[in-house]
Amino acid sequence: MLILGIESSCDETGVALVDASGHATPRLLGHALHSQIDMHQAYGGVVPELASRDHIRRVLPLTDAVLAQAGLPLSSVDAVAYTRGPGLAGALLVGSGVACALGFALGKPVIGVHHLEGHLLSPFLSADPPEFPFVALLVSGGHSQLMRVDGVGRYDLLGETIDDAAGEAFDKSAKLLGLPYPGGPALSRLAQQGDPLAYKFPRPLLHSGDLDFSFAGLKTAVLTQVKRLAHAHPDGPALPHLADPLSAQQKADVAASVQAAIVEVLVKKSMAAVRQSGLRRLVVAGGVGANASLREQLGAACEKAGVRVHYPELHLCTDNGAMIALAGGMRAQAGLSSDDEAASGGYQFDVKPRWPLSDVRPFTAIG
Ligand code: KG4
Ligand code: ZN
Repeated sequence: MLILGIESSCDETGVALVDASGHATPRLLGHALHSQIDMHQAYGGVVPELASRDHIRRVLPLTDAVLAQAGLPLSSVDAVAYTRGPGLAGALLVGSGVACALGFALGKPVIGVHHLEGHLLSPFLSADPPEFPFVALLVSGGHSQLMRVDGVGRYDLLGETIDDAAGEAFDKSAKLLGLPYPGGPALSRLAQQGDPLAYKFPRPLLHSGDLDFSFAGLKTAVLTQVKRLAHAHPDGPALPHLADPLSAQQKADVAASVQAAIVEVLVKKSMAAVRQSGLRRLVVAGGVGANASLREQLGAACEKAGVRVHYPELHLCTDNGAMIALAGGMRAQAGLSSDDEAASGGYQFDVKPRWPLSDVRPFTAIG
């Protein structure tokens, strides 16, 4: 059972092939990725129209590269999985259109995958895969959620951000410091030279008693601090060069302090979720899961609490095709497809730019 996976929800075109034969965890046979970061950097963020056009240019050459890596012809593909949502509508349509065309030409089914389900399951491709059930901390550019995961397609939301996502907090703070897009990796690199105790930024909802997050206030606190250090007027605008008067050490201290605030909240809420659920496993997925400080502190907290923590391989933390092929493979193995897919017979060329993961259910068993 060979599943081709296509990811095109944002600024990365990813294609991969997995072998999902039998009931063993799908095995990665090949994967290729093209990141659009260089293209969007000039604009300080993702330009949706440019993203869609670039996905169109990349997706078929990447598919050829993946098949060549695996040494297999296109005709050997048994199903085509693609990211159906959430994400940028135009970008999603590219992956969905190509997946449906390939599926139709091959006479094989297509599987519309939820992008976050891909992230959530991505640690199954690591050298130390988890076992169900587990608590998942999903931290990407658009989402911050804690989920209870009992099996493929069995996801219960425990808590989520009420405003900005953790990745957004990294990106917006980085922008205020004049760092290039995407800000998360740049800010975390700069933070290595800084003092995390230099500035006390708020830890929103840390003691709220629930498992929700809020990161929007952090951005305002960082803005206020940068203005203070730059001797700018407190009511002045957040101009692109606002942080220029800061010394390299001041910038690094702000970066380290912001990172410390975000990481502390993520670690404490994750450990609270693990405690409340009574589970002993935690999975961390999504782009922010690549953050070294988060990994270090979560690792220490989990060790103390006797909890196993699992991550995707570092290069599979951010968006990629492997996680979509994997999720498609695991859904196929579980005999699951979504209701409307089963009803339409597939190839429906219908993306879901806004799509809560909890809406992925109910499923229709097709096995
Ligand atoms: O999961 P992802 O690749 O895309 C979405 O689905 O959103 O996550 C991208 C987010 C961005 O906000 C990026 O700045 C952040 O993940 N990110 C990081 C790191 N690497 C990526 N944030 C902090 N530290 C990192 N090392
Ligand atoms: Zn993502």
